Amino acid sequence: MVFMLNVKCKKIRGKIMKVAGPVVVAKEMAGAKMYNMVEVSDERLIGEVIELKGDKAIIQVYEETSGLKPGDVVVSTGRALSVELGPGIIGSIYDGIQRPLELIRKNSGIFIRRGERPDAIDKKRKWHFFGCVKKGNKVHAGSIVGSVKESGAIENRIMVPPDVSSGVVRKIGDGKFCVDDVVCEIDCANGAKRSITMCHVWPVREKRGYAKKFAPREPLVTGQRVVDMFYPVAKGGTAAIPGPFGAGKTVTLHQIAKWADADIIVYVGCGERGNEMTNVLEELPKLVDKNTGKPLMERTILIANTSNMPVAAREASIYTGVTIAEYYRDMGYCVALIADSTSRWAEAMREISSRLEEMPGEEGYPAYLSSRLSEFYERSGLVETLSGKMGSVSIIGAVSPQGGDFSEPVTQCTVRVTKCFWALDAKLADMRHFPAVNWNKSYSLYARVLSGWYKERLSDDWSHARAELVKILKKESELKEVVQLVGMDALPYRDQLTMLAAKIIREDFLQQDVFHKNDSYCSVDKQMKMMNVILKFYDEGNKVSGDIKKIREMDCARRIALLRYADEEKVDTEYKGIVKGIADEFSKIGG
Ligand SMILES: Nc1ncnc2c1ncn2[C@@H]1O[C@H](COP(=O)(O)OP(=O)(O)O)[C@@H](O)[C@H]1O
Ligand SMILES: [Mg+2]
Repeated sequence: MVFMLNVKCKKIRGKIMKVAGPVVVAKEMAGAKMYNMVEVSDERLIGEVIELKGDKAIIQVYEETSGLKPGDVVVSTGRALSVELGPGIIGSIYDGIQRPLELIRKNSGIFIRRGERPDAIDKKRKWHFFGCVKKGNKVHAGSIVGSVKESGAIENRIMVPPDVSSGVVRKIGDGKFCVDDVVCEIDCANGAKRSITMCHVWPVREKRGYAKKFAPREPLVTGQRVVDMFYPVAKGGTAAIPGPFGAGKTVTLHQIAKWADADIIVYVGCGERGNEMTNVLEELPKLVDKNTGKPLMERTILIANTSNMPVAAREASIYTGVTIAEYYRDMGYCVALIADSTSRWAEAMREISSRLEEMPGEEGYPAYLSSRLSEFYERSGLVETLSGKMGSVSIIGAVSPQGGDFSEPVTQCTVRVTKCFWALDAKLADMRHFPAVNWNKSYSLYARVLSGWYKERLSDDWSHARAELVKILKKESELKEVVQLVGMDALPYRDQLTMLAAKIIREDFLQQDVFHKNDSYCSVDKQMKMMNVILKFYDEGNKVSGDIKKIREMDCARRIALLRYADEEKVDTEYKGIVKGIADEFSKIGG
């Protein structure tokens, strides 16, 4: 977050009239603009103008407001609530308005002092800058002029700031620089001269520009079978993961943060309990990214705004997160933004709205809840960046409806805009079926566009296998009632076989053990082979007729488990052995 007062703009100094929780009303603020950032009282608490009425400004304050009183000064900074973007963001842990929590902890202990505002990125650190343009090269906003190695895994590509229309490189640096040092000079087309540093500022509520948006075409591989094989999310796509308390939203999101094949992960802990964030903080630095072999923190940014932190900053945390995600997208990276939980974000909106005495909509949420949610998810996408690279932001948000009631407004508004729906189910969680994704209620609208990728990548008919497994599970739900009435033994052989196959799909394929080293992450190759084994078993079983006891004795579940828990490099050998084993068994029973 940038806190400097913009010197060029005339400072507007008003006075507090009223304080209501996180909301402050100030008078004598004529000239202030919507979404201007302000400093409140001598403590210079950070706030943002969210409504203007005559010379009165209504301000949401991102820090504790206790002790503020009428008459205290309010100063408008003349600029919008913004984040600071430059090398040094990766690996950081920020609060909702980009204050570096680690640095604050070092300076002043666990609690953030009011008005405390260290730089979001280290201004003293020197980076080795490598220019990639030459004197005389033409550049425009978004062009990449050089890079620094930001972390073991990520090269930060330094871009011409958004407000430069076009120009010619006059001078390009090479060597060690701090983020505020000039690394490139440009003669702009309009005759102006611009000095470019490695760092720029962006207002969080505004989406960043790109050249062109494309329909997603590749999956974001998460290593979670129920996601990748049943309800895949695309790179540049959106997914919602709704579920009641304790159904496994956070655990699932952590799994995605750990394993997804994104270049960068931005994890926003929004209004959830502090200890969950602590888990991420403790776990991630110890883990190694299986794609790059580097510590996971070298591709991760955490934004923590836990339930005990001020509610307005929670509202901002989502925007801070998505702006940082877009920044790395613009360098040509595949970024995944994970938000836990968007319901807490919506609750923050509701609280602020009620302080503003706005007309409440459904369940007290403001009428603009749905537009805010869709604006947020619309910042996802696969794009051609201004520099001509391909980059993406995928957004995955948890929704925590009270009592798991999916008909409430936040879930409903989210469903309308997200294309994947991973419905978590309390009943499944109670039965320890994890991840507790309900296979009947969940869906992915990406399955069709991604089928080409799967076909190419797996040289196997994923769409067909997926459809078959879904069909078996559907049939199982229909047969369940019959079984309850007449018992399993009364079913014809074929139906018993279906029930057996469905059980295997549920227990050995859809369930996944986060604690097992070979099961926590499952490669798509292994996932596909597991599906093939189940289908092979089912197809062969359908060819023979008769004795379900013999089929049970084959213990297909055990065979699948061999594959499931196999080391990735042994998958191929195991697979061949299992397929042969099944074929042999069936040839013994004969037709
Ligand atoms: N995939 C999983 N594997 C094993 N246990 C799980 C899994 N998902 C959830 N759990 C169990 O359920 C508990 C609650 O999960 P959590 O993700 O915190 O729920 P939520 O975020 O939906 O409230 C966890 O502490 C864990 O014991
Ligand atoms: Mg949770």
